[in-house]
Amino acid sequence: MGEHAQIIRTQVGIVGGGPAGLMLSHLLAKSGIENIVVEKRDHETIKNTHRAGILEAGSVRMLTDSDVNGRVLTHGMEHEGIDLRFNGVSHRLNFTELVGATVTLYPQNEVFVDLAAARARDGGDVRYSVSDTEILDLTTDTPKIRFTGADGQAFEIHCEILVGADGSQGICKWAIPAEHRTDNFIEYPFAWFGILTEAPKSSDELIYANSPHGFALISQRSDTVQRMYFQADPDEDASKWSEEQIWDELQKRVDGPDGFQLKRGPIFEQMILKFRSYVCEPMRYGNLFLAGDAGHTVPPTGAKGLNLALADVKVLFEAIDSYYATKSKDLLDGYSEKALRRVWKAQNFSYWMTNMLHTRKDANPFEVKRALGELDTVAGSRYGQQYLAESYTGWPHS
Ligand code: PHB
Repeated sequence: MGEHAQIIRTQVGIVGGGPAGLMLSHLLAKSGIENIVVEKRDHETIKNTHRAGILEAGSVRMLTDSDVNGRVLTHGMEHEGIDLRFNGVSHRLNFTELVGATVTLYPQNEVFVDLAAARARDGGDVRYSVSDTEILDLTTDTPKIRFTGADGQAFEIHCEILVGADGSQGICKWAIPAEHRTDNFIEYPFAWFGILTEAPKSSDELIYANSPHGFALISQRSDTVQRMYFQADPDEDASKWSEEQIWDELQKRVDGPDGFQLKRGPIFEQMILKFRSYVCEPMRYGNLFLAGDAGHTVPPTGAKGLNLALADVKVLFEAIDSYYATKSKDLLDGYSEKALRRVWKAQNFSYWMTNMLHTRKDANPFEVKRALGELDTVAGSRYGQQYLAESYTGWPHS
């Protein structure tokens, strides 16, 4: 196969055309650095994959300052805070007032659509629907990506820097030999049951609810479509649940003396989202650099996944840009360590939010009440609220 492969030369080869890969490609191109992106899924599949939706202000700025387009400003919904709800009582955390920052609800698939459109507009080389992707020669000056194009033709990209932005199920991190890689991970004894519903908003901004029946998150997509989740068993079969059962379960978890009622409507998507916390260390091997979910995954409770991916891309872009401007590899050599500092802060925050808000099935009354004591400590003090608000809205980009 190798002999018949058509060779393409470029500076940066990127595996993965999700938000991380496309954002990096876009920034590199703006800086005059040639790059090619290969992605195994097709455009429609990525566009229709529902993921989380909260962007930190720093992520919004990456989209607007680099002229992706302004849709995040016109179509995104700026949120000033969240409600923490426990013991049936809502506690408002106003981020603007606490830490002078907001977040923006703008689903990840919209970020993808914007970035893909910007790459197409600017003549970017993004190849969807590729197969048989392999990466090789990572410790040489010419790392390579082998793949079969959508038309069946075999290709080999010869590049100088290879970026693995191929998500949590990707191939790139496994190309780092086991003796050069540490896999740090934990699993959780719960998952999220997620729905999309055609209903009016139940709340203008997000509600993170702890209840004796388990966690629930009330989120939104638009005035007419809402996104909600509730804690479920990882091996729950989502298709077995009737709409009424789902609504009753969600309602139980937000019930309280204030009489708060969810606004119900037809449910048009229901699925189980499994999650775990994972970090690959280091996020580099030779001339391979990992970015986003390819290097780490967080549980969704802290809304950090996409934001971390974009933060990696910012650090990696600056390192690659500096390499081509100065021929010094100093920033590239520092990439993994610098990216990992933010990764571990986000891991800690996501782990903390997840454990504080969820209820383990086998939890005894002590553990349940301890968690309520923790929530009360956070919600009941300005310092506690600020701690959560600072992490949720995102630490400053370097
Ligand atoms: C979502 O709207 O899908 C969403 C928001 C916040 C999270 C997770 C998911 O923490």
